[in-house]
Amino acid sequence: MTVTIFVPRDAAALALGADKVAAAIGSEILSRGLDARIVRNGSRGMFWLEPLVEVRTEQGRIAYGPVKPSDVAGLFDDGFLTGGEHPLGLGLTKEIPFLRQQTRLTFARCGVTDPLSLEDYRKYQGLKGLERALTMSAPQIVQAVTDSGLRGRGGAGFPTGIKWKTVAEAPGPQKYIVCNADEGDSGTFADRMIMEGDPFVLIEGMIIAGLATGATKGYIYTRSEYPHAIQTMNAAIEAAREAGILGASVMGSGRVFDMEVRVGAGAYVCGEETSLLNSLEGKRGIVRAKPPLPALKGFLGCPTVVNNVISLASVPIILDRGPEFYRDFGMGRSRGTIPIQIAGNVRRGGLFETAFGLTLGQIVDEIGGGTATGRPVKAVQVGGPLGAYFPRALFDTPFDYEAFASKDGLIGHAGVVVFDDTADMLRQARFAMEFCAIESCGKCTPCRIGSTRGVETADRIAQGIEPEKNKALLADLCATMKFGSLCALGGFTPYPVMSAMTHFPEDFAPTPLVEAAE
Ligand SMILES: Cc1cc2nc3c(=O)[nH]c(=O)nc-3n(C[C@H](O)[C@H](O)[C@H](O)COP(=O)(O)O)c2cc1C
Ligand code: SF4
Repeated sequence: MTVTIFVPRDAAALALGADKVAAAIGSEILSRGLDARIVRNGSRGMFWLEPLVEVRTEQGRIAYGPVKPSDVAGLFDDGFLTGGEHPLGLGLTKEIPFLRQQTRLTFARCGVTDPLSLEDYRKYQGLKGLERALTMSAPQIVQAVTDSGLRGRGGAGFPTGIKWKTVAEAPGPQKYIVCNADEGDSGTFADRMIMEGDPFVLIEGMIIAGLATGATKGYIYTRSEYPHAIQTMNAAIEAAREAGILGASVMGSGRVFDMEVRVGAGAYVCGEETSLLNSLEGKRGIVRAKPPLPALKGFLGCPTVVNNVISLASVPIILDRGPEFYRDFGMGRSRGTIPIQIAGNVRRGGLFETAFGLTLGQIVDEIGGGTATGRPVKAVQVGGPLGAYFPRALFDTPFDYEAFASKDGLIGHAGVVVFDDTADMLRQARFAMEFCAIESCGKCTPCRIGSTRGVETADRIAQGIEPEKNKALLADLCATMKFGSLCALGGFTPYPVMSAMTHFPEDFAPTPLVEAAE
């Protein structure tokens, strides 16, 4: 019987040499005359083990990693095709603690299937949600998504069902589904992993969104820095069209839905939904004033759903298993699961999908295993470049939208970036202001001017120039940006700045830090 070997083609695995490993395995198969084939799967999201090679055996899939091309001959010598023992052996993949502890709903197939095989997709419950949606009325689909408690995973946590209802009820001959795949937050990669590892689930979610709202056309807006995701999504859309899943009659239902990928150059502000819509229309990526909401006047002035990749990719399982199934995971008003992306200076970086409610300490210390450098954790930035820095004293905060907001933080797209005790928090505060100054679209004064003044003020504190006065000035500037900015880029930059100042005052003490001013 042909043995199946899995070598990921996820960009993170490729960056760590997966193509060379796959080539080395291919040559060994040929030279040894073995009956084996290689499937290029998505990543399981355990980046410290990539390239993670798996072999399908009678006991289940056995994992080896991280594999280098020079390890490959030895793996064959040790009989890895039958799960033989080897120093890189990790045992049954599903028993690896990092995976075993997860609740994989949205990422259930990621790393398991061949991303571009519709046969695999169907074999692992794919299209079940869509099949179910096709038997329901549009308001019933909207109700199911509302009842599931799903909130937008792009950052703002807005209830997805309510957004869909607004679009469904908005008048207009043409409506659109726009998938926000810009993924600009630092330390995040969940959208990319879905697009590369399970693209059909995103297509399925977008079709369901179309059925729910009356939209017949969808766009995935992503950035040029995601070439592998773009390639995989385009190939999956083509395959779905050929199979009659997309097009003039979705799965023979007579309902229309088609979609395409659009690529931006990669600007942080183009992830903001109105800026994204301008970019999608071929205009400069500048933020639009709201109202009107994109749900009423979005792409080309038509009612438009703008949803994050993970929000849309979570919809198929909600329709398949029912809203109660999904809602039963989580805590408070944060229902279902969330793919936490653990990055930065951390021992076990990767994607960990779990029900809301784990504490930050559990995520960083137990799951992430502390810092990669082995030094104490000093701070964790949650929610991307606009997220607050949390000190160890706040590690009992549960991963939940409201719990983070009550501590002046945010979950955002669930990126968790770890810093050890060598981090200089004044420098991080300066960086937040600098980032905002570089990425600002320039439309409103508090953000455009305030961020540059913020950098100058941080520098003066670093140089020991009137530190108390300048700290007060920085706090005042933050208040102006928070309350006076048009969008969350200027409005949330104060979070990393103020949290650094509040939780790490010792780093803002008047010791001259000349480097910070350079
Ligand atoms: C500066 C800025 C950048 C953003 N970047 C992203 C992004 O990369 N991806 C994303 O899904 N949402 C991003 N958002 C949030 C979007 O504006 C919007 O809330 C989201 O796409 C809505 O989808 P959701 O309800 O499914 O989360 C950003 C917002 C701001 C203010
Ligand atoms: S806050 Fe910044 S990015 Fe947002 S609209 Fe104003 S200038 Fe543009």
